[in-house]
Amino acid sequence: MDPAPLTQKRILITAGPTKEKIDPVRYMTNHSSGKMGYALAEEAAKMGAEVILISGTDSLETPIGVALVKVESAEEMYNEVMRFFPDVDIVIKSAAVADYRPISFSEKKLKKKEGNLVIELERTKDILSELGVSKKQQFLVGFAAETNNIEHYAMDKLQRKNADMIVANDITAQGAGFKSDTNIVTIFHKDKTKKQLPLLSKRDTAREILQEIVLKMGDEKQK
Ligand code: PMT
Repeated sequence: MDPAPLTQKRILITAGPTKEKIDPVRYMTNHSSGKMGYALAEEAAKMGAEVILISGTDSLETPIGVALVKVESAEEMYNEVMRFFPDVDIVIKSAAVADYRPISFSEKKLKKKEGNLVIELERTKDILSELGVSKKQQFLVGFAAETNNIEHYAMDKLQRKNADMIVANDITAQGAGFKSDTNIVTIFHKDKTKKQLPLLSKRDTAREILQEIVLKMGDEKQK
């Protein structure tokens, strides 16, 4: 087997959470550590790819040979993804992007008051959907973090967002999803085939995902 099957491929990977600011001291975020995305970046580089990693975390070491772009908010991630998108061959969206952000940012720290505080939220841009609309040569991989009806929601995302592949993780399963060093994923393809992976380290999961991409891109080329 070719040890560097991604040679001459440029790959864009997103990792980690986004942070949506409320005021100078508070923000909304999620549990993503970035470990899945960083494992993908590291393994893709080892497989010969030129890797651009757009990351919402700064608590992990940048893998050797990977170009890191730091972002905070979903809007910043959108802008950076769009900047690189035209010139890449593969995109893997393993980041946990906020679906909502506060409508307004308070320049001053919000003070405690009597009663409840209501913060109005608005939708962020769905980056994966926008990529699905504008994609040309790119092989587009989304992730799905689900708690139930995994297959149904993964296939729905695959079709609705015009992705080539969805990697679904059941975030309620022990050893899967956020923060852990392991994951349990099922890979869903456009041609309705799927591949279920056992509990593996995120690094081994990353390698399996990348090998599956290489395989499917080869199939597409032969059509
Ligand atoms: O970072 P770790 O701690 O290692 O955890 C890994 C992980 C659980 C975060 C990762 O494996 C994972 O599942 N990432 C996707 C999480 C997620 O946001 O899933 P979703 O079902 O909400 O989104 C579906 C897809 O749309 C994802 O590819 C997401 O990047 C993308 N999306 C979501 C919202 C948005 N505004 N724009 C997007 O592009």
